[in-house]
Amino acid sequence: MIEVVAAAMNPGEIAIREGAFATMWPAHFPEGQGNDFAGYIAQVGKGVGRFEVGDQVVGYLPRAAQADFVLAPVSQVVPKPHELSWEQAAAITGVGATAWAAVEAIAPHEGDTVVIAGAAGGVGSIATQLVQLRGASVVGTASAENAEFLRGLGAEPMLYGEGLFERMKARIGPPVTALIDTVGRGNVDIALALGVSPGRINTLVDGGAIQRYGVRSEAQESTTPQEWELLARMAASGAFHVPIEQVYPLEQVRQAYIDVATRHGRGKRILRMRAD
Ligand SMILES: NC(=O)c1ccc[n+]([C@@H]2O[C@H](COP(=O)([O-])OP(=O)(O)OC[C@H]3O[C@@H](n4cnc5c(N)ncnc54)[C@H](OP(=O)(O)O)[C@@H]3O)[C@@H](O)[C@H]2O)c1
Repeated sequence: MIEVVAAAMNPGEIAIREGAFATMWPAHFPEGQGNDFAGYIAQVGKGVGRFEVGDQVVGYLPRAAQADFVLAPVSQVVPKPHELSWEQAAAITGVGATAWAAVEAIAPHEGDTVVIAGAAGGVGSIATQLVQLRGASVVGTASAENAEFLRGLGAEPMLYGEGLFERMKARIGPPVTALIDTVGRGNVDIALALGVSPGRINTLVDGGAIQRYGVRSEAQESTTPQEWELLARMAASGAFHVPIEQVYPLEQVRQAYIDVATRHGRGKRILRMRAD
């Protein structure tokens, strides 16, 4: 049993609640919300050797994490390094793991130029950093408001929307060799038209493109607790940073979901269950 300190807000849960994934992830009301969380072990079950009461952990429990207490199998929980803030820790097993899976899928290396569509978002802002840790360059699409933010993450910002293909084509610099798509809206088609091979495209959202072109679609679901633990340690050591857009107390969960639904912002929105 874990006493949750912070849990992340995710746009996918809005889609599930509205029935967009009814065949894959049906919603049965009333039901919980929130997947990725950080907190203290409050009780341990019989035979659990790895954790003790009071240990700090991060974990993943689909549509159950936004609660004062959660019950988790030991396989869904890994240690939280003390140096990592509760807010950043709460996002490790969700957007952190998703960014990790997407980056692993395209296997960036020195000399690569990777486009990240939606680079300022929860997944995109972490993927932007992980790609550069592997020696590749990043072109990140965002609104004009987030151009400076992306430069601060080491990426070359590119305005999304009308004329994106032409802007990508006219861009001065090495050709684009891979795409991580967190947005949809034709980004996969643009990458293919720029000559990127389907095996070096990973989309989180474009189901049609996966069917049509056989592009990849690795996400949170393909990661392991060992990878969550590694990511938590990397974030704690400062290898990458989880940008936080806003922290909300539990009483403001409704406003938090309204803000997430705008699909604009910088990094993660986090729900705080208790002070510390
Ligand atoms: N299957 C999985 O395991 C999994 C896990 C996590 C996420 N996902 C999915 O991946 C997607 C991204 O998640 P997220 O948490 O990163 O989303 P998010 O944080 O809500 O993304 C918001 C960002 O998207 C940017 N954006 C909005 N419209 C855009 C456009 N047309 N082009 C480029 N950027 C645009 C915004 O930039 P501006 O503010 O500059 O407009 C903002 O920074 C979601 O659809 C989510 O459901 C799947």
